[in-house]
Amino acid sequence: MFDIQQYPQINPPQRLLMGPGPINADPRVLRAMASQLIGQYDPVMTGYMNEVMALWREIFCTRNRWTMLVDGTSRAGIEAVLVSAIRPGDRVLVPVFGRFGHLLCEIARRCRAEVHTIEVPWGEVFSAQQIEDAIKQVKPRLLLTVQGDTSTTMLQPLAELGDICRRHGVLFYTDATASLGGNTLLSDDWGLDAVSAGLQKCLGGPSGSAPVPLSAQMEEVIRRRKCVEQGIRTVSHNDGDDEMIYSNYFDLGMIMDYWGPERLNHHTEATSMLFAARECARIILEEGLDNTIARHALHGRALAAGIQGMGLEVFGSQAHRMNNVLGVVIPAQVHGEEVRSRLLQDFHIEIGTSFGPLQGKIWRIGTMGYNARKDCVLQTLTALEAVLNKLGFRTTQGAAMQAAWDIYEGAA
Ligand SMILES: Cc1ncc(COP(=O)(O)O)c(C=O)c1O
Repeated sequence: MFDIQQYPQINPPQRLLMGPGPINADPRVLRAMASQLIGQYDPVMTGYMNEVMALWREIFCTRNRWTMLVDGTSRAGIEAVLVSAIRPGDRVLVPVFGRFGHLLCEIARRCRAEVHTIEVPWGEVFSAQQIEDAIKQVKPRLLLTVQGDTSTTMLQPLAELGDICRRHGVLFYTDATASLGGNTLLSDDWGLDAVSAGLQKCLGGPSGSAPVPLSAQMEEVIRRRKCVEQGIRTVSHNDGDDEMIYSNYFDLGMIMDYWGPERLNHHTEATSMLFAARECARIILEEGLDNTIARHALHGRALAAGIQGMGLEVFGSQAHRMNNVLGVVIPAQVHGEEVRSRLLQDFHIEIGTSFGPLQGKIWRIGTMGYNARKDCVLQTLTALEAVLNKLGFRTTQGAAMQAAWDIYEGAA
């Protein structure tokens, strides 16, 4: 017989999440999420939706009208942009430098795009010239990029790509899930037509909401594919003259109509996630976006110095690393998973493993969002050094800590 006593109220252990995301949510965000629900069209709720748009424009450094939340994890944001922008048969170019570039290809293929890729080895990024050469050759309708590929920890420079895209009549999108809030992203100045993100990394929240800003040009592309559902459609609604968007849930035209003054019924907004997204943005803007990015850079540097101080090698081109995630080469004589499991069991600290060609070769350690803090960095270094020594990898005790302290003292 079913016994409900076997299912007590959840009470997860206290963990320090120092992997590539998710990280511990800021307690302010958790408190916002615990607020009572209100109705979808309550003027207070629609007021919050308008506030969310205004707050997130600041985070994305954009003045565009449409900066909305797609309900779902970051992947939902990616899928919404891609399925709304790509018509079957459209040619897209994806510079792949890690797992999440492959994800863009995979989603674009499901939108029935003709997908072209260029690749560099994991641990490197592309020059603007390499991307422009490929654009000239492929002549894509869209350039799909990842700003920070969490799988390799690398940050693709985007500043020059907007001008290149404009010159060649290409729409420009980036996935900033891992990078936003911890690294500079200037949506308007860099000519981005669409960006998508998620809350669970530098933004200090849980996964489950994907903020997405769209340029006026992207809005026009999507409006031409407009489609209003039967049942809510009136005589004043006209469909667009281009092919419909082959998803209902991720139709950004419908999502704009829901977030815009018409408030046309679509999904039921994920209220608690909207509260979370609003608080994430407030926390960053109170600190100041530039200060938040500088904080990620400082703790990222301290972590890297500590790792090198204990005699470990950092992974990939350090000139192009995200501020917020560090790849650490697993020493040959060490079993990477045993280290991770001891860190979790003995210290309640989680660090990340990696995928594909880097599986078993690097750990990924994050310093982001609420956990981009000195105490988190020092605790992680102390614990990792202790575990490594326990497993026979000898370090000069104290050197890691001193190296990290030197960074902090130098910055003070
Ligand atoms: C760069 C990047 N894009 C997309 C995703 C997918 O995010 P989600 O798991 O929130 O759908 C991740 C997750 O780690 C990511 O790091």
